[in-house]
Amino acid sequence: MRVLLMGAAGQLGSEVVDILRSEHEVVPATRNEADIADLSRVLSLADRVSPQVIVNAAAYTDVDGCESNKGKAFLVNAIGARNVAIAAREVGAKLVYISTDYVFDGAKEEPYLEFDPPYPINVYGMSKLLGEILVKEQTNQFFIIRTAWLYGKTGSNFVKTMLRLAREREELRVVNDQRGTPTCGRDLSRQIAELTQTESYGTYHCTSQGSCTWFEFALAIFKYAGYEAKVDPSGSVRLTPNPQALTPSTQDLKPIIVSPVTSEEFPRPARRPKNSVLENFMLKLQGLDIMPLWEESLAKFLRNVGRRYQVPDRRSQVGSIESEVGATFMIHESCAAKVSLIPKDNGNILWLLTIGHKPPTTDYHL
Ligand SMILES: NC(=O)c1ccc[n+]([C@@H]2O[C@H](COP(=O)([O-])OP(=O)(O)OC[C@H]3O[C@@H](n4cnc5c(N)ncnc54)[C@H](OP(=O)(O)O)[C@@H]3O)[C@@H](O)[C@H]2O)c1
Repeated sequence: MRVLLMGAAGQLGSEVVDILRSEHEVVPATRNEADIADLSRVLSLADRVSPQVIVNAAAYTDVDGCESNKGKAFLVNAIGARNVAIAAREVGAKLVYISTDYVFDGAKEEPYLEFDPPYPINVYGMSKLLGEILVKEQTNQFFIIRTAWLYGKTGSNFVKTMLRLAREREELRVVNDQRGTPTCGRDLSRQIAELTQTESYGTYHCTSQGSCTWFEFALAIFKYAGYEAKVDPSGSVRLTPNPQALTPSTQDLKPIIVSPVTSEEFPRPARRPKNSVLENFMLKLQGLDIMPLWEESLAKFLRNVGRRYQVPDRRSQVGSIESEVGATFMIHESCAAKVSLIPKDNGNILWLLTIGHKPPTTDYHL
């Protein structure tokens, strides 16, 4: 199967490339190859590639930025989504459009199901919901996949932000009245791979299992990064690194106090839903749900992220370049590389060096 991936350099896009290319031909497209807001460029790219599947992981994802930049939000997230859907229809490809938990207002007490009426409370959610509507107007062969609280090796996300702040600060305040489900981009990519094998088109909720608040998410990040926690009577949590439990990327972490706060105490330009937990109801009904528990995924992610490795520096033939696993780095002005860790069935880990034009494309087993 040939897959055209829009938004290939993004957090989710780069994981989709990694997962899908083991079994499929993946053509990664960044904004440079095709701005999804430009219909003619999207059409000509799709025509050239002639894919069986198009995954649209491109979006304007700055939730607060969308409030002050409505035009860009709707141009990329709604018109862009429509353009990619038109291209998918024109070349007869299945379409995957990634949407969000922020299409809901958060007033429901229980997890949201696919047929609960959406009612976004911020511009980002509105633009993504309009994207969903326009996708449905353009093609029947669509998978609209609503996900939430994504993290991965590429780009910035809550996991990386917490670990960075733990190096920079002694105290941290984290919102404890918004509930959702942290979801690893790698798990979501596997679910996308499964779903696109089928013709079970429609709208799907697709997050990990379980839920937490941002504060609970932060505590779990510190736990799996190697911290020990002691709860104060005030509700704040004193975290101390346990030298035996630290992972290779968390050796330099310092003690920190994390305190729960309300959304009102932590005002942001965009309102967020209090509850945006999604039930993978449609996946479960059809026996297609392969999403793991969020804490298990997080623990696995933190075991691997930031492991350091060395590869020969081809510029000088001596010395080495040091970089984090999963990070793309340039080894020449037109040549990028990335190291991935791939768990094998026998329990071993395969170290994979991928080299090529940005993003890297050719694999070498280390
Ligand atoms: N992150 C989350 O927590 C979360 C939660 C729910 C749903 N989602 C959805 O999941 C999808 C992937 O999100 P992500 O976290 O991977 O976001 P991301 O890291 O911000 O990646 C989005 C990618 O889209 C590209 N892009 C932006 N505008 C474009 C345009 N006009 N044409 C082509 N490419 C463009 C960006 O390129 P530049 O960097 O050059 O702008 C970036 O590489 C999005 O649809 C998002 O709405 C994300």
